[in-house]
Amino acid sequence: MAIVFNSVDKTYTLTTKNTMYQMKVDECGVLEHTYYGAKMDYMDMHYGVECVYGASFSPNPADYPDEKWAYSYNALHQELSCAGIGDFRLTAMGVRNGDGSFGAEPRFVSANIEKGKYSLSGLPSFYGDDADTLVVTLKDNTNDVYFHLYYGVFEEYDLITRSVVVENKTNCSIKLEKAMTLTLDLPTGSYDMVYFHGRHTRERMLERTSIKHSRISVASMRGASSHMENPFVVVCDKNANEEYGSAWGIGLVYSGNFLISAEKNLQEKTRVVAGINPENFNFEVEPNGKFTCPEVAMVYSDSGFAKMSNSFHKAIRNNLCRGKFKNAMRPVLINNWEGTYFDFNADKLVAMAHEAQKMGVELFVMDDGWFGKRDNDRCALGDWTPNEKKLQGTLSELAQRINNEGMKFGIWFEPECISEDSDLYRAHPDYALAMPNRAPQVSRNQYVLDFSRKDVVDNIYNQLVKVLDSANISYVKWDFNRHITDLYSVALPADKQGEVYHRYMLGLYDLLEKITSKYPDILFESCSGGGGRFDMGMLYYMPQVWTSDNSDAIDRLKIQYGTSFAYPVSTMGAHVSVCPNHQNARVTPLKTRGNVAYFGTYGLELDVTKMTDEEKTEIARQIKEFKKYYELIQRGDYYRLISPFTPDESLYCAWETVKPDGSEALVCAVRYETDACTAPEYVKVKGLCPEKKYRINGGDRVYTGSALMNIGFMLEYDFFSYPSRLYHITLA
Ligand code: DGJ
Repeated sequence: MAIVFNSVDKTYTLTTKNTMYQMKVDECGVLEHTYYGAKMDYMDMHYGVECVYGASFSPNPADYPDEKWAYSYNALHQELSCAGIGDFRLTAMGVRNGDGSFGAEPRFVSANIEKGKYSLSGLPSFYGDDADTLVVTLKDNTNDVYFHLYYGVFEEYDLITRSVVVENKTNCSIKLEKAMTLTLDLPTGSYDMVYFHGRHTRERMLERTSIKHSRISVASMRGASSHMENPFVVVCDKNANEEYGSAWGIGLVYSGNFLISAEKNLQEKTRVVAGINPENFNFEVEPNGKFTCPEVAMVYSDSGFAKMSNSFHKAIRNNLCRGKFKNAMRPVLINNWEGTYFDFNADKLVAMAHEAQKMGVELFVMDDGWFGKRDNDRCALGDWTPNEKKLQGTLSELAQRINNEGMKFGIWFEPECISEDSDLYRAHPDYALAMPNRAPQVSRNQYVLDFSRKDVVDNIYNQLVKVLDSANISYVKWDFNRHITDLYSVALPADKQGEVYHRYMLGLYDLLEKITSKYPDILFESCSGGGGRFDMGMLYYMPQVWTSDNSDAIDRLKIQYGTSFAYPVSTMGAHVSVCPNHQNARVTPLKTRGNVAYFGTYGLELDVTKMTDEEKTEIARQIKEFKKYYELIQRGDYYRLISPFTPDESLYCAWETVKPDGSEALVCAVRYETDACTAPEYVKVKGLCPEKKYRINGGDRVYTGSALMNIGFMLEYDFFSYPSRLYHITLA
């Protein structure tokens, strides 16, 4: 059993293949966090976090143990930290009681160990019968406010998940002014935080900073996890890198406003909190009501980032993504967006499908512009009625024409938004989020629908069902092209407006659950102006995400590299597009565009009818090659070999996927800088068997696995811009 209670020490110890997490009920009933790190033999690890001295100006709880002057909420390592009761550090929970007082002192009530993984009502979460669950119930020592702490333990993946359910058993409403899921207290030491910032077309850029005594945060208040910050961080030792040092990966299974914050405190210890962003959040919990905090997923690695990433990759692929596509070979698709934008009709699309099918493409996706009178981005969102003039017939007839070309048919939606110039807005202006007497902000000429309202969600659900039932549709791209402002729902009273952001997410998740379960044979791809909502929450409903609106192979190196810290290759939408590239005008070899897109879902995003015969032959070759390596790429262990974020150290970016038994590997190297008299560059391979012999691309030289891992091999030189190569390493 991965969860063990020691009744003498009053400890609960969670154990995975390589890690251990421990908590202890102390003499006052506080649930103290004693350890999270490498797996060890059992002992009560409380001595490692004891507060004996050094907690000056830290108040003691009324019932603190005699002579323990440093016993303070401000110094204790806690599993659940609450504001208002003398913990001046970052805290997770803020409870406004019915009498107006602010604070709670959670004390142990009971605990339960269960087989299988808990699930969360209305929220995405990891799942699995093989996992184990611990539920610890704490209660405020004054009021009947309960905190049920949920822990999920996935032994195989070193994954530990957490959630908190707050239950109000008092006879008046309470308000949660803060309901963050995670408190993680790390012992004395110096740590860094690695995080992934960005903007549209430049998502998940890696940055690293020290955790010092001032608070650092990554956060979103955009109503979506956003391009600008990702709800995933790595807290790590100062010297940690891909293969050395302690690294704690922390990700939120949530797609809305979030906050992950860390600080070093007065005892030189580090606290991390993570959850819903408390700004403009205020949630009422009525008597006998409950509030569920979104899940946090954590992986600890004692040997750097690569091990941590691989654990997340496997867990996300197998125990977060759902449905028949999660591990199936996904169809190679072509999307018409960059090929036509809004300027198409059915004949044009069919001509593209005709050409694409000859190269081996399997699915044609019709992007934005097929509904209402949408010939530009100023109108029609909300009117999900096919434009039969543009489609030169019904949607079903178009799908049939595409099917006749030997291809499946897919379609784009942006269900959460509404144009002012739409029939839906004219009929129901109140469906859009807008504050009373204040003109709402427009963004991409559109508003956001009030998904906190069931009637609004139902309207969109019915429209989607009508379209999806009307034609042979095999794929849906679910887009979201602006962020939320003007947060106000006409359906809620003034004192509940602080609930709207989270209620929006609950409405969205409800719709996604209903649609994805009604259409299990449709492949869903999530998108938000590219990678603006690339998070574990969306991956629960849709197994792939359009990684970025930037399809330039060289910019994609950084984007896909950053994304790979948490998210597996199988989740990253990646397409070959035209040159000069539409986002940055760069010209790259078609082969390089293909090689980079292989390490994602590989597809096309260009007008194939304008390609030369030579280009078409190259795409046909790529599709064959991609399929040949599909299993290895999608299910192999993934290693980042040379970072694109360190151009002063290397001209290359390189990465690798290797079979878990070390019998076969594929290395991809792309040169993104150019230099005269270039020095030879070597790349060291990972994950091979040291004693076995290998060849590269079937060449004559035989290498031992240990030589390839310790010396590496020399990257071949090409005298042109942005070359790339695949190195297929097989047993000799
Ligand atoms: C943003 C997406 O990321 C693009 O791929 C495309 O679907 C456009 N929206 C369409 O409006």
